[in-house]
Amino acid sequence: MFKQFDKFFGIDLGTSNTVIYERGKGIVLNEPSVIAFHQVTSEFIAAGFEAQAMIGRSPEYVEITYPLQNGVIANFDRTSVMLQYFIKKIQGRPSFLRSSQIYISVPCGITNVQKRAIEETIVHKGARKAIAIEEPIAAALGAGLRLDEPIGHLVLDIGGGTSQVAILSLGGVVASQTINRAGLSIDRDIRDYVKRTYNLEIGERTAEHIKKEIGTATDSSAERTLDIRGRDLVDGLPRSIPLKSSEIFTVINDFLETLIEAIRATMERVPPELAGDVIEQGILLCGGGALIEGIDERIRMETGVAVHIADHPLECTAIGTGMMLDGSRSKSWSLPSNEKPQDEIAM
Ligand SMILES: Nc1ncnc2c1ncn2[C@@H]1O[C@H](COP(=O)(O)OP(=O)(O)OP(=O)(O)O)[C@@H](O)[C@H]1O
Ligand SMILES: [Mg+2]
Repeated sequence: MFKQFDKFFGIDLGTSNTVIYERGKGIVLNEPSVIAFHQVTSEFIAAGFEAQAMIGRSPEYVEITYPLQNGVIANFDRTSVMLQYFIKKIQGRPSFLRSSQIYISVPCGITNVQKRAIEETIVHKGARKAIAIEEPIAAALGAGLRLDEPIGHLVLDIGGGTSQVAILSLGGVVASQTINRAGLSIDRDIRDYVKRTYNLEIGERTAEHIKKEIGTATDSSAERTLDIRGRDLVDGLPRSIPLKSSEIFTVINDFLETLIEAIRATMERVPPELAGDVIEQGILLCGGGALIEGIDERIRMETGVAVHIADHPLECTAIGTGMMLDGSRSKSWSLPSNEKPQDEIAM
C-alpha cells in the first residue's frame, strides 16, 4: 500500500464554524461547529447546519452544544463525533479518517501539550498523520501573504470565540495575544442590551442576525433600523421593537476598545523593526468579525495603520492549512521536514 493514495485535508476547527479543505478540490465543507445529542441516551442526532437549525426550537431531550469553546476543544468526544460526521458527509462513506493526513489549525498560545493532544486524538481516530498549525500562520498564508521573508506582518483574526492578534515573521509567531471576546460575545452583549433596555428576551440566532444586519464599528455611518421580535419579560407574550444601528454601535464599541488595546499591547512587545514593518505592510483582518461594517476603518483610525480585509475572511484559515498540505511544492512556504505530508512513501 502506498501513501500516495492518502487523502489530504486541511481543517479549520473554529468555535463557530468548521471549514474543510481537501487537496485537489478546495473548500469542500463549511458548517457551524454545532452538535445535537439525545440528552438521556447520548445518541447522536445531528451536526452542522442541521443541528444549528434546532437551536431554540428543539424538545427538551435534545441537547445542542458547541463542542469548542473560546477556540479550543472543550469536549474531545463530541468534537470527534462532529468531525467524523463532516468527513463522512464529504466522502459519502463512514470510514473517514483511514488513509488520510490532516492539517488542523489551532489557536496560537495553546501549549505544546494541548497541540499534541489534538494531534494524538486525530491519529487515534485512524488518521495516518495529524499536524496542528497555528491559526494566524494559516490565515496569513490563505490570504496570500508570503511568510518566508524576514518581514513583520500583523494578523488580526476575529472569530466566534476568540480574537487573536499575532505578529509573524519568517514563518513563525513573534508575539501574540488572544482575547476571549469575539462574535459570540458580541451576540451575548446584544441580548443583554435588549433585555436591559426593552425588557425583551431574544434568542442567540436573533442576536447574531442583528449584529450582521445593523452592527457597525463606527458612529458616523447612516442610521439603519431593524424590527426584531422577542418575548416580553413582563407578560411573557411576543413583542416587536425597532432597533437602531447606533444602539448596536454602543454595544460593539466596548469590545472594539479591548481589541484595539490588544493590538497596541502586541505591537509594543516586538522589536521596533518589526513594528515598523507592520506600519508599512498594514494589518491583515480575517475571521467572521472582519465583516462587521466599518471595522477596518475604525481600526485604521485608532491605530494609524492601514487595514486590509482578507478576500475570504471566513475561509482563509482553511485555505492556508490546505496550502501547507501542498507546502512541499510551494516556493513561498516550506515546513520542517518532519511536518511535511508524506507523499509516495512505501509502507
Ligand atoms: N457579516 C457579518 N457581520 C458580523 N459578524 C459576522 C458576519 N458573518 C459572520 N460573522 C460572525 O463571525 C463569527 C464566526 O467567525 P469565524 O468562522 O471566523 O469563527 P471561528 O473560526 O469559528 O471561531 P474561532 O476562530 O474563535 O474559533 C460568528 O460570530 C459570526 O456571527
Ligand atoms: Mg477561527
